[in-house]
Amino acid sequence: MARSVVIVGLQWGDEGKGKVVDLMSRDALAVVRFQGGDNAGHTLVVEGQKTVLHLVPSGILHESALSVIAHGVVVAPDSLMSECRMLEGRGIPIRERLRVSMECPLVLACHKALDAARESHSGGEKIGTTLRGIGPAYEDKVARRSVRVSDVFDAKLCESKIDELFEYHNHALVNYHQADAVDPAATKSLLAEFAEFLEPLACDTVAMLHQIRRDEGTILFEGAQGTMLDVDVGTYPFVTSSNTVAGGVATGAGVGPRHIDQVLGVVKAYATRVGNGPFPTELFDSDGRRLADHGNEFGATTGRPRRCGWLDAVALKHAIQVNSVSKLFLTKFDVLDGFDRIRIAVDYDESGINRRIVNSFDGEYLSQVKPVYEDMPGWSESTAHVRSRDRLPAEARAYIDRLEELAEVEVAGISTGAERDSMICCDSEIFA
Ligand code: GDP
Ligand code: IMO
Ligand code: MG
Repeated sequence: MARSVVIVGLQWGDEGKGKVVDLMSRDALAVVRFQGGDNAGHTLVVEGQKTVLHLVPSGILHESALSVIAHGVVVAPDSLMSECRMLEGRGIPIRERLRVSMECPLVLACHKALDAARESHSGGEKIGTTLRGIGPAYEDKVARRSVRVSDVFDAKLCESKIDELFEYHNHALVNYHQADAVDPAATKSLLAEFAEFLEPLACDTVAMLHQIRRDEGTILFEGAQGTMLDVDVGTYPFVTSSNTVAGGVATGAGVGPRHIDQVLGVVKAYATRVGNGPFPTELFDSDGRRLADHGNEFGATTGRPRRCGWLDAVALKHAIQVNSVSKLFLTKFDVLDGFDRIRIAVDYDESGINRRIVNSFDGEYLSQVKPVYEDMPGWSESTAHVRSRDRLPAEARAYIDRLEELAEVEVAGISTGAERDSMICCDSEIFA
């Protein structure tokens, strides 16, 4: 297996990244989250036991791998502590396996209040966020006023930073949003508790990762959200507030592009989106309902139903390009079982679109295009227990062949069920 592998979602999140990362973590020395926060919901299913992770990297079930939350992640203290308690309750030694960067900005009560206040009166422009305070926390990071992990170890400094920050945000909450002010007292005691919890976990994760790299250990970088939710190359403004693409590893984990060996793009065999924003291949008919039912498409973080549609090969090509994807991992393939006809969007009809906005994938452009479909025959057999690509029904193989042709990238693995071992390995080198 390549030594430094980035695993990113190529659609609107929930592609099954957690499952792929868990699967690949067996021989890794570190599994690293480099962006996002607890807006993520990554699901692992091992021998029937389901684990949903929000901040902790998806390698946590493996003994050999250190789970690293790098500085690009915004950390909600309450969320991280309750996730760790849940894992400790399952016998996972968090103190041994988890490390958190000293430089992570914290997501605090004022950020959640701002997220909620904005979403409650943004009308048609409502993003449909996870209400986890992610956007406001990243705003504070670039405005250079975050309270960071390292701050919690100096109680006096931390309290004065909290006071200053809450005073600043309460002004907007009360005077602009007509919302309630947030009392900083609860946050102060939360951070005192957090300091104790973090004491054995907080460290310089950049130095640690480079040491593992020099020792030739395998490192996996786990993306959260998906490329179309990237703040720069996604469907802006209907995006999250971080760089979800592979390039985010350089800034969010401090490991530069020359030290990345492989970029694995995770793509669902159809498409889903949770929250608002353009989605050209969205379905409102029985096919859409069937995808939602068979795929059990409910958000792992908010429980909201996910919007469903056919695979969009145009958006996929964009995602492959901006991430420099070297191999694809196709997930939820079993969900297509039993369809008479499967569609892939192979082009966009741009007639009537303002030339100025053509050639970008921002929200304005994507909301105006109409997908042009190619139809492929479906298959009636179940693919759930198939373990090799050549044992798949002929129509299923034809679908994957066509996808590879359109994407111009090979499929290295196919997931045919939620369980860890429900998968077809097409490229033995990736999993060696
Ligand atoms: P992530 O955010 O990209 O990690 O994905 P989520 O965990 O939010 O959503 C993926 C959902 O699909 C989870 O419920 C998984 O257990 C499930 N899943 C993953 N791979 C497969 C698969 O190949 N087939 C089926 N049927 N379910 C899958
Ligand atoms: P994983 O890692 C799917 C979406 C929200 C909303 C937009 C902005 O599980 O794939 P935010 O709370 O980030 O400010 O919301 O981004 N979103 C996700 N959608 N999967 C996720 O994570 C998501 N994280 C955020 O629904 O549209
Ligand atoms: Mg998810």
